[in-house]
Amino acid sequence: MTVVVALPRPSASLQLGSLTVDPPVVLAPMAGVTNAAFRTLCREQGAARGASERSGPRGTSGLGSERGAERDHEQGAARGASERSGPRGTSGLGSERGAERDPKQGSGLYVCEMITSRGLVEKDETTQRMLVFDPGEAVRSVQLYGVDPVYVGEATRILCGEYGVAHVDLNFGCPVPKVTRRGGGAVLPWKRALLDAILRSAVSAAEPYGVPVTMKTRKGIDDDHLTFLEAGRIAEDAGCAAIALHARTAAQHYSGVADWPAIAELAAHVGIPVLGNGDIWEAADAVRMVRETGCAGVVVGRGCLGRPWLFRDLAAAFGEVADPPPLPTLGEVAAMMRRHVELLAGYIGEDRGCREFRKHVAWYLKGFAVGSRTRAALALVSTLAELDELLAELDAGQPFPVGELGQPRGRQGSPRHVTMPAGWLDDRDGLGQDLAAAELGVSGG
Ligand SMILES: Cc1cc2nc3c(=O)[nH]c(=O)nc-3n(C[C@H](O)[C@H](O)[C@H](O)COP(=O)(O)O)c2cc1C
Repeated sequence: MTVVVALPRPSASLQLGSLTVDPPVVLAPMAGVTNAAFRTLCREQGAARGASERSGPRGTSGLGSERGAERDHEQGAARGASERSGPRGTSGLGSERGAERDPKQGSGLYVCEMITSRGLVEKDETTQRMLVFDPGEAVRSVQLYGVDPVYVGEATRILCGEYGVAHVDLNFGCPVPKVTRRGGGAVLPWKRALLDAILRSAVSAAEPYGVPVTMKTRKGIDDDHLTFLEAGRIAEDAGCAAIALHARTAAQHYSGVADWPAIAELAAHVGIPVLGNGDIWEAADAVRMVRETGCAGVVVGRGCLGRPWLFRDLAAAFGEVADPPPLPTLGEVAAMMRRHVELLAGYIGEDRGCREFRKHVAWYLKGFAVGSRTRAALALVSTLAELDELLAELDAGQPFPVGELGQPRGRQGSPRHVTMPAGWLDDRDGLGQDLAAAELGVSGG
């Protein structure tokens, strides 16, 4: 069944429990991408437009969201402060700095890359290093992975109580074989009772802190084993504040086109907000997704790779700004690249920051006329000084390659067989299942 809801105009904000997200735009959790530096860059862009929006009629909701965020944040910071004297003090670096509120807190919600529940509970160092937040990140949002209700509950408590996190998202959409072959990620919602138990555990752990819990999932395992409608009801009954749907099956991976009518179907099926996800390449796509599906907000992933200013465009589009912001020239993109590396260097040092940045180079330069020698050198950059020299070689006035607009970017891939534990499809309950091997101890990757 396909349900298409035509809305006169998209709602200006999204309500996740006590948290107002305005505009209703979420940066998708992306492993290896949405670290503190990238989130900051996107947030700065979102705020660049969001700030001017607030002087108009929509100012009230914008201000409301800021106040709400501030209040939530203060609660989080106070909790963090009282518990930071232990060994967690170091990993809570972000928590301490987070106590100051930066006026640059952007509109929208910016989710940290995925953290494993077991890694957090067992104090795995890599996991703790990933839990760093920018001082301006007033609303800390983290995605958790887990298959064991006990680990997920305890990890949620740690995030809310010790890291001042204001939003927890649970990952049930990961399609990679190392996760699905153990029964985790996108294949887990097949086990209805287990899904319910995990969600309830997280919701009850977050509840004393007033923190909303959301789940992110795919349509299902494959076209013959769809789970999203049932998962939506389970999430609603368990007390989740919203459900995000990447409108592909696990078997599709990133291939084909996202099935937006499935988002509409879910929005008509549940009483909690639905966040639509999949194939938003431009701000206009996001507005169109909301209009066509009736979803309450959007989750944007690959479209912002090498294009953090998409969040400025999204804020403008949802703010109904008549003239979209101008597209950046190559010089402006170069400035964005510089800022990205600078932020990375601030968190992980110049050497690691430069290395980490290398994978972003091709995304930033996609479609621009830049010589292969410069591209190759940028993709091997090791120091900020070297970066500056190379960026100075670029033709700063070169206009944005408009042919790139609306084009897919990042992973595409092709459909794949979904690997699952033996007999996985035979039972829909899952509570007796031994999933110890699926409880990943290390985050990242
Ligand atoms: C590099 C990369 C890493 C990702 N990591 C995660 C992750 O850790 N958790 C998650 O729920 N989704 C992850 N995703 C999926 C995205 O959050 C999003 O659902 C997907 O890319 C579809 O949205 P898009 O079409 O806007 O990119 C990842 C996607 C990419 C491209």
